[in-house]
Amino acid sequence: MSKVIAIWGAPNSGKTTFATKLARSIYDEYQATVVVVYADNETPTLPIIFPNYKKDDLCSVGVALAKTDIDRHEVVKQMVTIKDKQNFAFLGFIDGENKYTYPTFDATKVRSLYSVLSSLADYVIIDCTSSLKNPLSKVAVREADEVIRLSAPTLKSVSYLASQLPLYIDPMFRLEEHIEGICVTDEDLYMPIEEAKSHLHDVRFTIPYSQAVKQQMLDGNLYEVVNDKKFNDKFKAIVEKVV
Ligand SMILES: Nc1ncnc2c1ncn2[C@@H]1O[C@H](COP(=O)(O)OP(=O)(O)OP(=O)(O)O)[C@@H](O)[C@H]1O
Ligand SMILES: [Mg+2]
Repeated sequence: MSKVIAIWGAPNSGKTTFATKLARSIYDEYQATVVVVYADNETPTLPIIFPNYKKDDLCSVGVALAKTDIDRHEVVKQMVTIKDKQNFAFLGFIDGENKYTYPTFDATKVRSLYSVLSSLADYVIIDCTSSLKNPLSKVAVREADEVIRLSAPTLKSVSYLASQLPLYIDPMFRLEEHIEGICVTDEDLYMPIEEAKSHLHDVRFTIPYSQAVKQQMLDGNLYEVVNDKKFNDKFKAIVEKVV
């Protein structure tokens, strides 16, 4: 049985980093087939995760979504893979694309995409945008088997969630079921983690800060295992808790 996990939360709270690290961790620990979907079509994520790939090596999930019906072969064709890593793939948007690049797609088509991905992979990890105007994110938050909601210990995260969560009070968004986590995205965050927690509902885990992880994002190898034992040990415990 395939499991769909949506990563949602405040802007800049470490969603993309967490989604990528979670995917790699599941891939290694469970010897599972894993697909990551980067939903963002306002700041396309593939060029950020794979900055060292040639432009022609990156393809777009938008092409698969533009077809009248979601076609399994087309979806596979649009997957970005890593050398020597079978059964580990990434889907997303590429440089220069935006919401007008492809015909609009609705929730039914997104559902159909996720259903095809579930038939292909043991785990489908969806890196959602903070705003659920993005249909890939909206369907994921409403229908994934699990939703992980991140915030950074910053006033900006607290302010964002205080403003936006009321918009998603409808039970279809299942706010009460989300697994809440804090991600320490900066070394010198001024807001104490305990204070941040008091603004949130029920924080289940804290992702520690890692300079090496930050560097991986800059170097374009975030999907590789990081050389930071403290981070890896903590992260493994988080994965066991949430998967
Ligand atoms: N555990 C961590 N340790 C160190 N730096 C981190 C960690 N998690 C995230 N970061 C850094 O925090 C910044 C934001 O991370 P990321 O892009 O993953 O957030 P996001 O929630 O996806 O942002 P957006 O809302 O723009 O999509 C990046 O510079 C990233 O390298
Ligand atoms: Mg992101």
